[in-house]
Amino acid sequence: IVAFQTRNPLHRAHQELTFRAAREAQANLLIHPVVGLTKPGDVDHFTRVRCYEAVLDKYPQATTSMSLLNLAMRMAGPREAVWHGLIRKNHGCTHFIVGRDHAGPGSNSQGKYFYGAYDAQDMFPEVVKELRRTKPPRSKQGFTVFFTGFSGSGKSTIANALMVKLMEMGGRPVTLLDGDIVRKKLSSELGFSKEHRDLNIRRIGYVASEITKNGGIAICAPIAPYATTRRTVREDVEAFGAFLEIHVATSIEECEKRDRKGLYKLAREGKIKEFTGISDPYDVPENPELRVETLNVDVDTCAHQVLLKLESMGLIAAE
Ligand code: ADX
Repeated sequence: IVAFQTRNPLHRAHQELTFRAAREAQANLLIHPVVGLTKPGDVDHFTRVRCYEAVLDKYPQATTSMSLLNLAMRMAGPREAVWHGLIRKNHGCTHFIVGRDHAGPGSNSQGKYFYGAYDAQDMFPEVVKELRRTKPPRSKQGFTVFFTGFSGSGKSTIANALMVKLMEMGGRPVTLLDGDIVRKKLSSELGFSKEHRDLNIRRIGYVASEITKNGGIAICAPIAPYATTRRTVREDVEAFGAFLEIHVATSIEECEKRDRKGLYKLAREGKIKEFTGISDPYDVPENPELRVETLNVDVDTCAHQVLLKLESMGLIAAE
């Protein structure tokens, strides 16, 4: 039995050389990929296994089997090659194919692959299809739009208008995590101390990162007064997709003048403590992806500015 080890999807050259090796040794073939932890950036487990299954169809069924080896890669090069050989011997294999750069780092610091052009190009179409499915273009990936600004600044109104526009476009599911709704559904036990606000925002960030990971659009619209917390949320989301911070820059004077919910009046009277902008801090975003002014600008225009930004980032595209 000839064993073949890989941690990457099989390409045509792999298929050819394994098939020839088995024929030369007049042996059966065991495709024996390690599917434990590899290195960051490698193709994820489920995609990889689907790719192997696709290539398995290219071998004679009677003489070729696949078995998944749940082993972490150490990237230890030749020493790991010897170890891999021992493991396959213990699995009953008589021959073991050691490839170039076996258990090596694979790509250099510029992301160039050891195998050069062969790495990306000579793949079976079935494998290419699986890989494309896991890594769609940006215009099909998930992302998060995070509005921040004072109470009454217009975050919810703009967020709602943006949601409608994105739903009209279709393609990706849209979830609105509005400040007031989150406070009812997700953070009903929380108040407005720094600790509670941070917890509230981190919860929103977690949900948004899950939505982003799964290819959806999350629109968040809390006050989110603290820059450090907003940065944490950005990091959580950016692990899976794009994050846009949108500062709804309505001044505190204007918000207080509008006072739609009558809360500013109560805050001035001391009936609501720790009120953002009156008796509690707000860190103005220093480098938001976009800052929108709402004075003398209608909601539709504000939402459109966000759309233009999304377009410039490649997150929405003409079909
Ligand atoms: S955040 O600070 O945790 O991001 P969030 O957006 O969830 O705040 O909730 C803000 C909303 O709660 C405001 O729009 C307002 O209606 C209400 N609210 C009640 N008390 C306060 C307060 N002390 N400061 C700010 N908003 C408050």
